[in-house]
Amino acid sequence: MPAIQDAVIELREVAKSYPGIVPVTVLRTASLRVNRGETVALVGPSGSGKSTLLNLLGTLDTPDSGSVWIGGRDVTRLDAKDLARVRNRDLGFIFQSHHLLPQCSVLENVLLPSLADRGHPPADAHERARRLLDRVGLGPRHNHLPGQLSGGERQRAAVVRALIQSPQVVLADEPTGALDRANAEALGRLLVELNLEEGLALVVVTHSLELARQMSRIVELKDGALLPA
Ligand SMILES: Nc1ncnc2c1ncn2[C@@H]1O[C@H](COP(=O)(O)OP(=O)(O)OP(=O)(O)O)[C@@H](O)[C@H]1O
Ligand SMILES: [Mg+2]
Repeated sequence: MPAIQDAVIELREVAKSYPGIVPVTVLRTASLRVNRGETVALVGPSGSGKSTLLNLLGTLDTPDSGSVWIGGRDVTRLDAKDLARVRNRDLGFIFQSHHLLPQCSVLENVLLPSLADRGHPPADAHERARRLLDRVGLGPRHNHLPGQLSGGERQRAAVVRALIQSPQVVLADEPTGALDRANAEALGRLLVELNLEEGLALVVVTHSLELARQMSRIVELKDGALLPA
């Protein structure tokens, strides 16, 4: 069955367990469709499977059953090379920790995803990086090392890195979890503004009700399934 036209990313009846002495069933049957430009907050108690679900959406993990669709393709059927391309071109990732390389400047860090295809960034990637860094207030800091930035600034650099390849969808796992309240609020606002400006879809895992309320829809993970919150 082809994907529904407007869905940029979709889980169809996905199940996921972790084997072990005590096997853990995390997702029983989780379905989620995120349309172009839509913003979704994913909430639920600690251990309910939010990161597991986001990793499945991001093709960083594979489901036991069910399928994951990105840009109209069932990515559970792709080989490693095609999968790497989807991850690099169609998806942006933001984590709780910024994961910037400490020895590279802010500009070099945000250009990293654009190196993957050809080994050097295309000319327009450089321009886009400078424009986005200006946009998030980091223009004057582009030559700084991550260690010379504040926590909020580092996380804004991670946002630019997630956007550099013009992805269809950005997946964020607790993006404000390591920030103080003021920086968390500012980052939430920035994500919503970029969603509108860049037309990208956002799936944000968060414990923050404030951040969740800034998204257009909230879904809750409960007992291995997703419910509208
Ligand atoms: N690699 C793994 N092997 C075994 N069990 C795992 C693995 N990864 C996660 N789990 C288990 O799966 C469940 C869901 O974990 P997950 O990290 O998705 O939860 P979460 O909702 O993101 O929690 P938190 O809000 O604390 O980040 C937990 O019970 C966890 O212990
Ligand atoms: Mg988690």
